[in-house]
Amino acid sequence: MINFDILIKNGTIIDGTGQKRYLSNLIISEDKIVSIYNSNEESIIVNNEKHFIENIKFNEEIDATSMVIAPGFIDVHTHDDQNIFDDPTMSCKISQGVTTCIVGNCGISLAPFNFSGEVPAPIPLLGEKEVFKYPKVSDYKSAFLKKPSSINVALLTGHSMLRVQAMNGDFDRSANTYEIKVMQKMLDEALQQGSIGLSTGLAYPAASAAPTEEIIELAKVLKAYDGIFTTHMRNEGDDLLKSVQETIDIGKVAGVRTVISHHKCAGRTNWGKSIKSLNLIKQAKKEQHLDLDCYPYTASSTMLLKNFVSRADKVLVTWSDKIKDLKVIDIKDITKKFNCSVDEVVDKLYPAGAIYFQMDDEDLNRILKFSGSMIGSDGLPGDKHPHPRLWGTFPRVLGKYSRDMKLFSLEEAIFKMSGKSSSTFGLKKRGLLKEGYFADIVIIDENNVIDNATYEEPLLPSSGIEKVFTNGKLVWENLIATENFSGKFLEGKSFN
Ligand code: ZN
Ligand code: CU
Repeated sequence: MINFDILIKNGTIIDGTGQKRYLSNLIISEDKIVSIYNSNEESIIVNNEKHFIENIKFNEEIDATSMVIAPGFIDVHTHDDQNIFDDPTMSCKISQGVTTCIVGNCGISLAPFNFSGEVPAPIPLLGEKEVFKYPKVSDYKSAFLKKPSSINVALLTGHSMLRVQAMNGDFDRSANTYEIKVMQKMLDEALQQGSIGLSTGLAYPAASAAPTEEIIELAKVLKAYDGIFTTHMRNEGDDLLKSVQETIDIGKVAGVRTVISHHKCAGRTNWGKSIKSLNLIKQAKKEQHLDLDCYPYTASSTMLLKNFVSRADKVLVTWSDKIKDLKVIDIKDITKKFNCSVDEVVDKLYPAGAIYFQMDDEDLNRILKFSGSMIGSDGLPGDKHPHPRLWGTFPRVLGKYSRDMKLFSLEEAIFKMSGKSSSTFGLKKRGLLKEGYFADIVIIDENNVIDNATYEEPLLPSSGIEKVFTNGKLVWENLIATENFSGKFLEGKSFN
């Protein structure tokens, strides 16, 4: 007799590679998948030892008849740096089947950061002043190990954080040679301590003055660590194509794996540009590692900034530090109420958050469908009234875009949220259902999976996500977090 922890039997396995589904049984022991076997097999081999099925005892058996078993999803684009501490159940993500979050995107990361002055946009998105308390990546990591969440975490190093520190708050210009050296050193140390790469937010005040060369010099540091370079590009509207080209150049000159964050065409006059942008990306992919992520909505969300407001069809203000009890409101209604201009409203409310309606469905469909595009929510958990992508992204891709609109198969959808993501970001033994891999697993009711979060009611959990396991431990079941905090800190260098 031998004992294993969990048997998930009679499920339909979609393994995260994009390959066709098959019926099978899956055994979890401790934090790993130890066997995937067919019901007509008499025996299995685990760690080179043969065991007859009839001689195996399971502590728990789960019948997954008519359910899909898939790898836990990887949210490649998040701002959950602080959320993992504020809500260690990470319900907003595990309720979607997500078991790993990449934090530190868009040039902003909680670590490494040791600076007491005023911080420029979009850094305040990460939280109030007191959350910035991790001078080094190792400090952030130990805080997580002391108080782990239900989700695995991997950290990118934000370019804007390096800039603000190296330039002592004087960010409105390009960094000089000495400052670049300082940033390189900080980045190198961050990578040594487990950060998986570098992110930029070149569209924002904190980094928009940084020239291409500054980014290239930093991206070069990634090479020795095989780190990833992710970028919220300088422009996603009128100069979208120029920005894609800039990104391609950075990746090529620095020789690093590159990801374009939340690829979109912002502003009515730029709709349709995804045909050209995806073509540029497709061509570049022949010679370098270039990928992209996206979220399945036609509205975006970030801080309330004048140049973002001007190109949107409609803008909802979702929070303001100046008006603590602000209810979500159309910015036009505020201008009418106070009889002032949009710019004046922004000045009055800043720092504040907003949802911008500015994308086209055709572009969105094309980008989602693009071969190898990954899913990332870009959700902002600090927002009291967040964009629905925080709670809805993954089930929305599965239910709306795959099942209902048939934009791609369920196998392809899951590949975009698991296998493709783990290989791109270098997360070893994750993202696939495979013997020896970590048991990050989601059980899905494919006929009923759908997002419920809306712009009006953004905090509703999705339907059809039946059970979720992180490292072999049940973390979500029947719409409830089990408060098993089994997440791990995933490091770049050692790829644990
Ligand atoms: Zn961004
Ligand atoms: Cu972002």
